[in-house]
Amino acid sequence: MTSSITILTALALLVSPALTNNIRMVPKGFVKLPTNRGAYTIASGTANKAAYDHQTNLLYVVGHNADVMNILDMRDSMTEPKLARTIMFDALNQGFPNDVKLCRTTGGLARAFLAISFESKDLTERGHVHFYQPLTDPQEVLVRLKTVTAVEGFDPKSIFWNNECTELLVVSKGQPHTINGAFEDPRPSFDILVPTFGLNVDRRNIPFSEAVLKASNIRQVFSQCDTGTFTGQSDHVQDLEPDFVTVDENDNAYILFQSNNAIGKMDLNDPFSTLMYTDLGFKDWSKLGIDTSYDDGGLKLNSHTMKSFYQPGHAVTFTLSNNHTYIVTADGGSKRTYSYRAGSTTLCSFAESSLGSSWRESFSLSMDGPTITALKANLSSAASLGRMSFSRVRTFMDGYNPLQMGFNHLTTYGGRGWSMMDATSMKRVYESGDLFEAYYTTSAVTDKQKSMFNDYYYNANTPQSRYTDRTSPTFGPMPTAIASGNVNGTQVVAVANGYVGGIYAFGVTLNDTTSEPEVDFLGFGRRGSPGLTWGESYAKDDDSVGEPGITDMLFIQDEGENLIVAISSIAGVASFYAVEVTP
Ligand SMILES: *[C@@H]1O[C@H](CO)[C@@H](O)[C@H](O)[C@H]1NC(C)=O
Ligand SMILES: *[C@@H]1O[C@H](CO)[C@@H](O)[C@H](O)[C@H]1NC(C)=O
Ligand SMILES: *[C@@H]1O[C@H](CO)[C@@H](O)[C@H](O)[C@H]1NC(C)=O
Repeated sequence: MTSSITILTALALLVSPALTNNIRMVPKGFVKLPTNRGAYTIASGTANKAAYDHQTNLLYVVGHNADVMNILDMRDSMTEPKLARTIMFDALNQGFPNDVKLCRTTGGLARAFLAISFESKDLTERGHVHFYQPLTDPQEVLVRLKTVTAVEGFDPKSIFWNNECTELLVVSKGQPHTINGAFEDPRPSFDILVPTFGLNVDRRNIPFSEAVLKASNIRQVFSQCDTGTFTGQSDHVQDLEPDFVTVDENDNAYILFQSNNAIGKMDLNDPFSTLMYTDLGFKDWSKLGIDTSYDDGGLKLNSHTMKSFYQPGHAVTFTLSNNHTYIVTADGGSKRTYSYRAGSTTLCSFAESSLGSSWRESFSLSMDGPTITALKANLSSAASLGRMSFSRVRTFMDGYNPLQMGFNHLTTYGGRGWSMMDATSMKRVYESGDLFEAYYTTSAVTDKQKSMFNDYYYNANTPQSRYTDRTSPTFGPMPTAIASGNVNGTQVVAVANGYVGGIYAFGVTLNDTTSEPEVDFLGFGRRGSPGLTWGESYAKDDDSVGEPGITDMLFIQDEGENLIVAISSIAGVASFYAVEVTP
């Protein structure tokens, strides 16, 4: 076995001297995960989502494209885990794993399930879920406890247990696909799976309501193709695309609809409860800094008269000592472009946005003449907004005024930060503004970090720092995962850069007089070696490759340790950090 585990103690310490809470993230174990043939290759799809078992100290990591599950053994060391086993799935019979979640209860009617959702290749069959018995020892036989449970949707992207382990929530995105040579836009689905006696699993399908979506002013992205032989219409429900589901400690479920810029909430305690939707609103960039171009000579933050959709794709909940529950979201961004073909025939082609340089929509009367002139100049300039994407969807939720047949503002994609919402009111109580990019203009930034500003992974042969500033027009630092845990009275929130890795750490505490949450930025750290190519750095026996493409992040509090685990989908790595308090 050639898995490499490296302990680093001196690298990328997150220290913020100005803070009273001396919390830092110290890089620890770094475990590369093989394919089901035991091969170690960058970008082979061996890691997407992870689940930890507190009782056995095992960490399960599923990889979609490699169709694999790796099991990490943390029994001997929480901070230096070992790869213990690689389990191969079978694409034909089981499909490709999307998500993994483990649930355990203790006491008389103790329950323990390891649930994994699968989708078929090309989404030609309905998705399904397997329920396994969590392993006590990594080498035991993996036993399936229930019959294969089909769900309503084709693409069950995200699953989550309720607190009692009696219900598994499964959301299927309902992305368009071609089936029997025809274009189809399936409805999304929200299934609640209830493992019962023996091999049975009951399934409850939670409906989405067209009327409630309309009444809640939720964004509809797609209704018909721009061109193509498919001339049908998608309704509001078909357009809705759930990406992520989570449950808080009071058994309220939250569903993120990233491209729809919305969140759904449902009380699982009440069998008659239905989904309530909240539109996530616009972020205003007129008083914040943002880098909008890679033609502007590097790191350049400017304010712009424009807005963006927040569009979170990952979230976690916690309750603070004021007894308020919060949901915190990684506001990454998403924009849809469809190109479905059958042979040489275009079935459906659609783009919700245009590049600034080709945005030909009108503005409404709410915008004054000088601003329109300035925006038009910026749109036609590659150094300004020319490379940004702006919505051309003519709905109220995209800033379109149908009476004046023009847009009230330009709207681009993604919040480039994170938000905290009060889970009762669903009101945003904090958002990180322009901090994720502005960090790079501060004295805290290192040259190594700066060389990776708004960068992305292109292929194994390119140096890590080759495409610096290239993602500035497309989601910038693109936060894709968020994790949180309470460390000595501070609620630590960690947020991942989804392009090239790196973690921003924050501390949430309550104000002594108002009991309202206050957020401190604790620092930023990134593993990786910018000078090397991605392939060279992957071949090294340490953490040089870093964490490109983080798709999941866990906060593990166990055995006296506070750990953050970042799952890098491109490197195929589980990267561990210890969250330490220095007295
Ligand atoms: C136009 O772009 C520049 C930078 O490219 C920016 O500083 C300015 O604020 C923009 N103007 C408007 C009206 O947004
Ligand atoms: C905390 O909130 C929960 C639900 O929001 C409520 O049931 C509980 O009584 C509250 N506890 C306290 C101590 O206020
Ligand atoms: C935890 O916080 C308490 C006070 O809030 C402090 O006295 C203690 O030193 C902290 N623990 C560590 C490990 O710093």
